[in-house]
Amino acid sequence: MNADFRLDPDCDIFVGDLAATFPAWLAARHYSQVLLLTDTHCARHCLPVFFEKSKLPAHTPAAVIVAGESEKNISTCMAVWDAMRQHKLDRKALVINLGGGVVGDLGGFCAATWKRGMDFVQVPTTLLSMTDAAVGGKTGIDFEGLKNVVGVFQQPRAVFADPVFLKTLPAREQRSGMAEVIKHAFIGDLALLDDLDNMDAAALRRSIAVKVRVVQEDPLERGLRMLLNYGHSIGHAIESYFLDTDAPLTHGEAIAIGMVLESWAAGAANTAMVQATCARHFAHVPLPAAAEPRLWELLQQDKKNEAGAVRMALPGEQPFSLRLIELDRERLQAALTHYRSAPQA
Ligand code: GLY
Repeated sequence: MNADFRLDPDCDIFVGDLAATFPAWLAARHYSQVLLLTDTHCARHCLPVFFEKSKLPAHTPAAVIVAGESEKNISTCMAVWDAMRQHKLDRKALVINLGGGVVGDLGGFCAATWKRGMDFVQVPTTLLSMTDAAVGGKTGIDFEGLKNVVGVFQQPRAVFADPVFLKTLPAREQRSGMAEVIKHAFIGDLALLDDLDNMDAAALRRSIAVKVRVVQEDPLERGLRMLLNYGHSIGHAIESYFLDTDAPLTHGEAIAIGMVLESWAAGAANTAMVQATCARHFAHVPLPAAAEPRLWELLQQDKKNEAGAVRMALPGEQPFSLRLIELDRERLQAALTHYRSAPQA
């Protein structure tokens, strides 16, 4: 059984029908137990398909968390650790994370910390998690309104990205994942922009290939991997800001704005193309002027910052090259003004 990608000697990535890979992969390993982690949305829309394809029995122990980014917190971790305790999971057990970015990041974190670490696999069900979150070993949770600030690097034993699950997604969630594909396009493979409306297994492989190349070169984000944060410095701040309102944005909606604002603020040569691409797939979001102080405060907490300076990671002129740019407050204000005055952006 050949994997599509071998991220490292212990982490294979399979793209396509998981019925053709997962049962044999699992049978070749001798786990003492299996715990399935999923959320309420996936329990309804993905679990029946997963049971059918994986050949796991329907009575496999499962922990189900409430769906949504607001659940990505320490209380939910405690509930998952408690399920691990109740099912008496030992270090030879396997956790299967079936879901989007929240399930994968949080489930990976719980597995990576339970009894100092046990195996887990990612079965991503959203475009965002197939192309980005499930690949690369970032696990963690949000804390005090800051996204992904508590976590560890821990590679899953395998990733099974089956596009069948994309059919279960509401249109808004499907679009959300497109932001990461757009990001991969501008990082290393512009041809991906032609695939955005048809994310089949071949297109997924192209997008995942960009991520795998970056992670292989810099698994612990000492340098090049920061490139995968393109759009995410300002984007995360915008996402956190809207999370506290009645109209939260999806991750992708926030990251699309982040890519436009960061490109503009950095004076990137391809800003107009980034802007036009994002505008084709994402609606313009009114950003109130009153949001700026909170956005600046949130930006101070970004993980890429050094010595108090706010830093953004952008693609350089060559594919797979990184530019680190400092963002000062005046530039942020100017970028926000630009965005507000350009409703097509
Ligand atoms: N999602 C960014 C990364 O995995 O590095």
